[in-house]
Amino acid sequence: MTPAEPALHLAADNVAALDGASVSPIKASIGSRISGYRFDGETVSDDFRSAMRDLLHTRGLVVFEPGTVTAENFTKFAAFLGEFFHYAGPHTPRAPENPDATVISAGKDSHLRNHVWHADGGFREDAPAFTALFGKATPKDGGDTMYSNTAHVYESLDPLFARYLDSLQVIQSPDATGHITDRYLDPEEAAQARLRMPPFELPLVRTHPVSGRKWIAVNESYVCYIKGVSRVHSQNILGILFDAIKGPESSCRFEWTEGTMAVWDNRVVQHRAVKDYAGDAERLLYRCTMTA
Ligand SMILES: [Fe+2]
Repeated sequence: MTPAEPALHLAADNVAALDGASVSPIKASIGSRISGYRFDGETVSDDFRSAMRDLLHTRGLVVFEPGTVTAENFTKFAAFLGEFFHYAGPHTPRAPENPDATVISAGKDSHLRNHVWHADGGFREDAPAFTALFGKATPKDGGDTMYSNTAHVYESLDPLFARYLDSLQVIQSPDATGHITDRYLDPEEAAQARLRMPPFELPLVRTHPVSGRKWIAVNESYVCYIKGVSRVHSQNILGILFDAIKGPESSCRFEWTEGTMAVWDNRVVQHRAVKDYAGDAERLLYRCTMTA
């Protein structure tokens, strides 16, 4: 397929030599690795902050080696991106050593659907702009996170198809694939949750406020249907997009070790966990989410 628009060039060079950091791409389509940087637990320099923002807006995902931050201070590092936004409910507990972080653990939350492609908080119109994850305890083998850059997906589509997608509106809901139904077994609690988090309409394609790139704003977890077309039409179009989002061209796989951190632009980048680790292995990640 012919790209609808040329992909933006990588804004990576300006990070090198900043505060001892070096940067390398994960893939041409998504992600950068920062190494050699150590957060002092207090401040992030203005130059580093600016370069990091550029990277997130152009590369979508930035990952950091162990030793960059700690379980206690990774939220202080990530705070330069915006205000903390705790959208999760009581089922997602706070980290014991860091009240700004929530604990993500499939072992502790049987309803967690983090193995399905999603954007964090994608069941809300005001979903967080950025997410940071810190590896607290990670399986020896497996338990990676997969990421996909939906701006690259959009740019890889046939231009005529992309233009058609530009015209579509979708309906999203936290219960699109049964999140409320499964989690709230009490009918009254389920009804209240649906009132708190009603379905909403948004364009299928959105434009990033900083980079100007268009991206695919539907994910497998939270989209109900494309408005104004038949169910079959809707499902087929969404299927093409989900297939492209999962494709190797626009995605990458991040292997966790304890102490690593991943930060991404949660608007453009979708992600999922991979449940391929031993049943008795612990996979404990700490998360914070930020507004733009
Ligand atoms: Fe997530």
